[in-house]
Amino acid sequence: MANLWYKNAIVYCVDVKSFMDANGDGTGDFVGLADRLDHLERLGVTCIWLNPFYPSPRRDNGYDISDYYGIDPALGTLGDFVEFIEAAKDRGMRVIVDLVVNHTSDEHPWFQAARADPNSPYRDWYVWRDEKPDNITDGIVFPGVQKAIWSYDRTAKAWYMHRFYKFQPDLNTTNPAVRQEILKIMGFWLALGVSGFRVDAVPFLIEPRGVLTDKPVVDPHAMLTEIHDFLSWRKAEAILLAEANISYEEAPDYFAAGDRMTMVFDFVGNQQLFLSLARGTAAPLRRSLAARPEPQGMGQWAVFLRNHDELNLGNLTEQEREQCFSAFGPDPNMQIYDRGLRRRLASMFNGDQTRLKMAFSLLLALPGTPVIWYGDEIGMGEDLALPEREAVRTPMQWSPRHNGGFSDAPKDRLVRPLIDRGKFSYHHVNAAMQTQHRNSFFHAIADMVSARRSSPEVGWGGVEIIDVGDDELLVLSSRWRGNRVITAHNFAGEPKSFHLADEGIEELMPMLTDSPTGPIEGDGEIALSPYGYCWLRCNGERR
Ligand code: GLC
Repeated sequence: MANLWYKNAIVYCVDVKSFMDANGDGTGDFVGLADRLDHLERLGVTCIWLNPFYPSPRRDNGYDISDYYGIDPALGTLGDFVEFIEAAKDRGMRVIVDLVVNHTSDEHPWFQAARADPNSPYRDWYVWRDEKPDNITDGIVFPGVQKAIWSYDRTAKAWYMHRFYKFQPDLNTTNPAVRQEILKIMGFWLALGVSGFRVDAVPFLIEPRGVLTDKPVVDPHAMLTEIHDFLSWRKAEAILLAEANISYEEAPDYFAAGDRMTMVFDFVGNQQLFLSLARGTAAPLRRSLAARPEPQGMGQWAVFLRNHDELNLGNLTEQEREQCFSAFGPDPNMQIYDRGLRRRLASMFNGDQTRLKMAFSLLLALPGTPVIWYGDEIGMGEDLALPEREAVRTPMQWSPRHNGGFSDAPKDRLVRPLIDRGKFSYHHVNAAMQTQHRNSFFHAIADMVSARRSSPEVGWGGVEIIDVGDDELLVLSSRWRGNRVITAHNFAGEPKSFHLADEGIEELMPMLTDSPTGPIEGDGEIALSPYGYCWLRCNGERR
């Protein structure tokens, strides 16, 4: 099974419209993205995840789709899309795309037909009620912005359900016609060359809407099996990466040993990771790693630092969340939805490269497949003047030139403003300057990615947490096929050292370290600088 490509993948998430504008209209496009694949190649990316690029009114960054079988005209054509897929393939990169089928845009022709005529076959594609449902404010996803999860539609003269914003009516996934259509959408993009899907809002997608429409309820997870089966018949190598902010107890039902979701984002671990970074101790992360169930079979966790949404800290206790807020986003304007932070990674650490490198090294050392949000590899910041989560979606900063090299359009025509003031502005933080300088942040991250790619033990192997008697250190050991890699991370702002009291280790070969003199001292002691890290291969070369 050595060809399970995602087990050792480096995933990089791109918002096409904010990445690179090739035709000078102010919006990033597929031609621009294809043109900048060298940057991704230099970083060591092996899989690109595209945020939604479909036709959309873009009231939720494209997560409000009005046509599942097309490309937003500002981003290019289907032809451009296929050219991009081919260009990525040439460089050994796979592409996965967002599958957003919990809801459509209210401008989608299906919803337009459904609301206009109670006898339309599309009426039952959505979830309706004649009477105002009880508790319409329960289960709101975006508190403070969203008012309810049911809204009245005057044309339909009925209430429709929307888990997310009002303009995103939920599809009735208990309707077999809707489920057929979902498979058809998947089949379409698979035929155009994608290697799978990041599945949006999975817990909501499988919510038993049968209860809501008084229809018999089936096991909601059955739908995931259906999607998986279809996928693997159409394209054996394709994967499903679930966005599911679920507890570890629920996870086995999502994975079913890889027979449902191939990968699930580890939201629990992500929150414990930030709590650990805020407190300067590895203990919370170590506890959650120990409690995290092994996916079994072909399943795999996906790990991340930041993504295109808020840093969701909703699973922490109030006191823990406050600790994270005061460490990483004390200003109320940095906080959002009563639970998270709308900030980029680099600005949360106030640009402190020592801590940022440690966080990145940790991400790559965690068991699972790492997912990187574009721009974090050069240390971009956010724009808090933009609404909600838009703050972290500003255009990629390519160079110190006009519009940060993102677009030749006049500044007021840009899809979103560039960050052009302060220490995170494109004058100081950009890809061109960092690629030129060997000691830049970008090169440090690329070196880590390279260490990770040559350590398949981390992605494939089982992990063991080594207790070195110090809560401020996280020491992990991964073994696979007779080889072994040990990583160590120091969460404290002071130097640390430890011994590996392990019988099987004869020789330790440093692969990656922040220390100029190397981590291994004369007596076998391993030394880490403040917020330091090191990767060690045991017993010589990999066999
Ligand atoms: C997911 C996406 C988020 C979007 C929401 C509704 O949570 O990550 O960006 O707003 O789904 O589609």
